[in-house]
Amino acid sequence: MSLTVTRRIESADEVLALTLARPDAGPLPVWRPGAHVELLLGDGMLRHYSLCGDPADRLSWRIAVLRVPDGRGGSAYVHDKLHAGVPVRVRGPRENFAFRPAGRCLFVAGGIGITPLLPMLTAVEDRCRAWPAGVLQVERFQAAEPPSSAAESAFDVVLSRSDLTLRVPPGRSVLEVARAAGVPALSSCAEGICGTCETEVLEGEPDHRDSVLSPEERESGETMMICVSRARGARLVLDL
Ligand code: FES
Repeated sequence: MSLTVTRRIESADEVLALTLARPDAGPLPVWRPGAHVELLLGDGMLRHYSLCGDPADRLSWRIAVLRVPDGRGGSAYVHDKLHAGVPVRVRGPRENFAFRPAGRCLFVAGGIGITPLLPMLTAVEDRCRAWPAGVLQVERFQAAEPPSSAAESAFDVVLSRSDLTLRVPPGRSVLEVARAAGVPALSSCAEGICGTCETEVLEGEPDHRDSVLSPEERESGETMMICVSRARGARLVLDL
């Protein structure tokens, strides 16, 4: 759908908050905490951003975008081009990170990763207010930095269909290494949230770092998101 930027707030730390609405001010699709939308930006760029506003607000959506100076261009496009009044094409909402209410919740966020958690926190806190004191407990802390890639180890990935063995160094993904070797691999978000790059694991144990797979799917180790996930051992064999 085509939406319009109705409000733009530049906050500290290069984070831009955008409010999006229909040009006719009509209602938007229903969403639940944890949902994200896809923004179709210039030059075919597709980027995923969590909805971080109030799900009860049917007339506008809110996203927050961190400018990544050495990124792939999506955040720079949003910061530089999406001013108030500018139209933007949006798909969704999609729910790959649904919130499952529980009696006790621990929210852990790294930097801008707080965005999908904000509506969850609001939902939980609303519920706390409605319940007798002590029935629900909420703990919250936010990490300032994402995990360092320095702790990562290199591993080998065997691409069975391509008959290639490639080295995946710390700080690079299977997706990047495969593409650099000329192997076509589907992807979209490159952040482990959309599921486009899901690839079958034939041998080895993945170190899952996505937000798509369920605990059961992670445990089975049958597939992995090659844009973010790595290997627990020295070698993986993928159906790629
Ligand atoms: S490209 Fe979206 S999960 Fe990998």
